[in-house]
Amino acid sequence: MRIVSIHNVYTNENLINKEVKIFGWIRNRRHSKSGVSFIDIYDGSCLQIIQCIVKKNIISNYNSEILKISIGCSVCVIGKVISTLDKYQKYELQTNTIKVIGWVEKAHQYPISSKKHTYEYLRSVPHLRSRTHIIGVITRIRNNLFHAIHKFFYNNNYYWIPTPIITSLDTEGSGSMFRVSTLDMNNIPKNKIGKIDFKKDFFGQEAFLTVSGQLTAEAYACSMGKVYTFGPTFRAENSNTTRHLSEFWMLEVEQSFSNLEDIINISIKMLKYVVKFVLKYCKTDMDFLYNNIDKNIFKRLETFLFSDMVHINYEDAIEILSYSKKHFNNEIKFGMDLSIEHEKYLIEHFCNIPIVIKNYPKNLKAFYMRVNDDNKTVAAMDLLVPKVGEIIGGSQREDRKNVLKERFLELDLNIKNYSWYIDLRRYGSVPHSGFGLGFERLMSYITGVKNIKDIIPFPRTVRNILC
Ligand code: 4AD
Ligand code: MG
Repeated sequence: MRIVSIHNVYTNENLINKEVKIFGWIRNRRHSKSGVSFIDIYDGSCLQIIQCIVKKNIISNYNSEILKISIGCSVCVIGKVISTLDKYQKYELQTNTIKVIGWVEKAHQYPISSKKHTYEYLRSVPHLRSRTHIIGVITRIRNNLFHAIHKFFYNNNYYWIPTPIITSLDTEGSGSMFRVSTLDMNNIPKNKIGKIDFKKDFFGQEAFLTVSGQLTAEAYACSMGKVYTFGPTFRAENSNTTRHLSEFWMLEVEQSFSNLEDIINISIKMLKYVVKFVLKYCKTDMDFLYNNIDKNIFKRLETFLFSDMVHINYEDAIEILSYSKKHFNNEIKFGMDLSIEHEKYLIEHFCNIPIVIKNYPKNLKAFYMRVNDDNKTVAAMDLLVPKVGEIIGGSQREDRKNVLKERFLELDLNIKNYSWYIDLRRYGSVPHSGFGLGFERLMSYITGVKNIKDIIPFPRTVRNILC
């Protein structure tokens, strides 16, 4: 007996009129008075369910089990695949055996009913929410997007480097890091001057969860040429918004012998590749989003694919904002950081296509960005998309040892901690550049699902660590 997934049934016509075995969960069931039950089963392999036609006169456990099964039970069904005339539900299973594998306890109400639940409610049951259509759709698209990113870089001869998750360095210099320590919190060792004695800690010094794998990726770019890292990153920011997570996935690309323009071009080429990939391989799931979440989904993505991206200098962005009639909360002036309302205004100004803003004032950006000749700005770029805002941040890196050291002094960073990073500028330094892409933010842009808490399976945010 062939064990198949529902996806197999929907994609392999050879299975029509064949007997197959399917494992899954019950999404819905209906019993008719004439002794026939219609049981909808899903198995996560695709959006579609398969309807099992279960007849009392064929099934021995009809009265003892089938009439008692409820939504959420796990089952194994055996039957013949039949094609139907229904547009959405093209196949059904003429069932000859159905076994309940796991019952839903009657004493508890099953938290996922067949009605539509709000995102807020689903966030309260993260361990069960992947049983809904919407989270299933997001999970499959997420998987395809992840694969597409790796495929793009593999095809273009980049090496994937697993950079460390535990680190001693604050790459972004913003101080929003989670500490990693094995010290006894009830009996913290102190040194002679009364400060915490991190020499007694696990690593003999302070350690944190990484905010970015960039610095170590740079080390590999400065020998392997073109590399990327893709993993979880952690930020202890007190931002409870639809686009901030405390733990999110970041793709970071680093490439030698390249400048800011090169890295902007690579990031756009990669984005177009992965968007095309998702449109091609996730058609049913994307159609579901079009029908249920976002009527603009295809127009938005196709406009992006077929338009040239606008590149503007930060200085010009400030000028556009200062001429605007819209009221902003802060005074518009050179040196200010762009908030989400500024980003949204600029995107609308350019007719809702993604834009790149580059050459930011150096006071806004991290120490590693290359200082431009004006000594006022750095060779940095942010890529902004409609609704979500910044999804990519990148820069050309400061490859001149002395300028880098000056930046450490300016920003009051302890040079000693970065000695290995300075070495990269000491031994055969090269111009190089890179960028970081927030994976959940890209997913939000592609799917139209507004809150990235609904995109990552188990979100971690301020005061929230369910599961
Ligand atoms: O702009 P960021 O902070 O840049 C860096 O970390 C660089 N080291 C990247 C590099 O050049 N290698 O972060 C990069 C991207 C942002 O554009 C955003 O999409 C995402 O990471 N991001 C977040 N996503 C979810 N939640 C958060 N708290 C995020 N913070 C940044
Ligand atoms: Mg940024």
